[in-house]
Amino acid sequence: MGISDSTKNTFKKAVSTQILKWVSFKCRVFARQVGLDGKPLTKEHFGPQGKEASIPLAEFEKIESTLSITVVGASGDLAKKKIFPALFALFYEDCLPEDFSVFGYARTKLTDEELRNMISQTLTCRIDKKENCEDKMDQFLKRCFYQSGQYNSEEHFAELDSKLKEKEAGKLSNRLFYLSIPPNIFVDVVRCASLRASSANGWTRVIVEKPFGRDSESSGDLTKSFKKYLTEDQIFRIDHYLGKELVENLSVLRFSNLVFEPLWSRNYIRNVQFIFSEDFGTEGRGGYFDNYGIIRDIMQNHLLQILALFAMETPVSLDAEDIRNEKVKVLRSMKPLLLEDVIVGQYKGHSKGGKSYPAYTDDPTVPKGSLTPTFAAAALFINNARWDGVPFLMKAGKALHTKRAEIRVQFRHVPGNLFKRNFGTDLDKATNELVLRVQPDEAIYLRINNKVPGLGMRLDRSDLNLLYRARYPREIPDAYERLLLDAIEGERRLFIRSDELDAAWALFTPLLKDLEEKKIVPELYPYGSRGPVGAHYLAAKYNVRWGDLSGEDS
Ligand code: BG6
Repeated sequence: MGISDSTKNTFKKAVSTQILKWVSFKCRVFARQVGLDGKPLTKEHFGPQGKEASIPLAEFEKIESTLSITVVGASGDLAKKKIFPALFALFYEDCLPEDFSVFGYARTKLTDEELRNMISQTLTCRIDKKENCEDKMDQFLKRCFYQSGQYNSEEHFAELDSKLKEKEAGKLSNRLFYLSIPPNIFVDVVRCASLRASSANGWTRVIVEKPFGRDSESSGDLTKSFKKYLTEDQIFRIDHYLGKELVENLSVLRFSNLVFEPLWSRNYIRNVQFIFSEDFGTEGRGGYFDNYGIIRDIMQNHLLQILALFAMETPVSLDAEDIRNEKVKVLRSMKPLLLEDVIVGQYKGHSKGGKSYPAYTDDPTVPKGSLTPTFAAAALFINNARWDGVPFLMKAGKALHTKRAEIRVQFRHVPGNLFKRNFGTDLDKATNELVLRVQPDEAIYLRINNKVPGLGMRLDRSDLNLLYRARYPREIPDAYERLLLDAIEGERRLFIRSDELDAAWALFTPLLKDLEEKKIVPELYPYGSRGPVGAHYLAAKYNVRWGDLSGEDS
């Protein structure tokens, strides 16, 4: 009796996953072997993935598998600026499997050659600028193909399927779809792709970018629609902030250094601040943005995700489910967010030095009189034993004086400080502060009190500073590279599970409804300023000062 097809397929699927894991294992180990810091590695550097290397290579080679990545919405900005360059960077670093192809799918009629020309404009040889970069680029572009079609046409996706099959040449095929498209067509694409272009013998996965709805209800509807065609395991909801190096490092810093974890609670931490600012407005994106606003654009996802990682309990292991379980617990323990703990702002135009800066409502795609916030600050609380009473402040804004994203942890005062006299009446000046600068110029620094050298006893504030560019000269991969590679590997740790998403919306939906129903008028702040003064009052209410505006590194 022969082996049944389903048994064969199960076996093939299992092996194909192994192959991909091995390939990326090779690439990730390689990345470590050359040494981010140029130093040789020891055995300890190999994590649990090391096990996979013990599967004999000969076994892998017996089974041929192929990977097809289809970028749906290939002519859009995100695809051009982020997705194709990230795929090329992975190829360049030998992180993609031997046999892969990249397909662009969009409505515009293009030939393969035209797609190649289009994407070649944004591919860069950024990593170490190796000599063979041009050759690699040519090799990569030869693997890129194009299929035009409507987003809601099953027939057109069936055509895509035939093209994919041609390239897959009967091998075991794994397919990844990246939806780089507006949210109103998510479900159409998921339906067509899953019914007509799913892999017959390997895995099929779909990466989807926010917005995942506008509130609990619409997000729930979206999830329900997705689940008609896909299982939760096939859906990779991306939050690109989770792919940023410093955010990845948060857990390492906390759980692998004895000096931090014991301090990580209400006993020592006075407040935590999550700050996002951009020094440009919504130029060109006003139409999209006006329907969402800064709270949905940045806070409900990027900043809340970082907060959950920051505040979670130690997970049982580094497995995706263990980490995501802990994050959900944090989100579910949060105190409902009230209007009185939030302030909103909107940038207004102004002129400076002969240059004039537009107001948000000057954007022709923004309705006149729009009340959509381009800035918001909020005070959040986690009702659990570790964090009871600690304010977690968030602040996010567009068209501010600087571009940055950071996490600031302010510690309590030293009780009965012997050096109190040296600080005068302002004890805040003596607070230790740990800063994780996510961007730009990644760094981790700890602000400490130090004696100024000399015969007197003068103290000042100094930084113990881990500046990434000084310590790790190698360029840091873009967040999309890490996340794409994870999706290819089936590693879900950095993707948002549906219950996480529900919990995040449950926290923000009542507030968003309140803001909209009560037509709360945002406080205006000049383009390029430090934001509305209301943010200071909100912080002061909880006895907090924004660390980024303290004058020391603002
Ligand atoms: C996106 C937001 O998710 O993140 C944009 O929709 C924002 O409004 C962008 O500009 C910021 O990302 P990054 O990686 O440039 O900080």
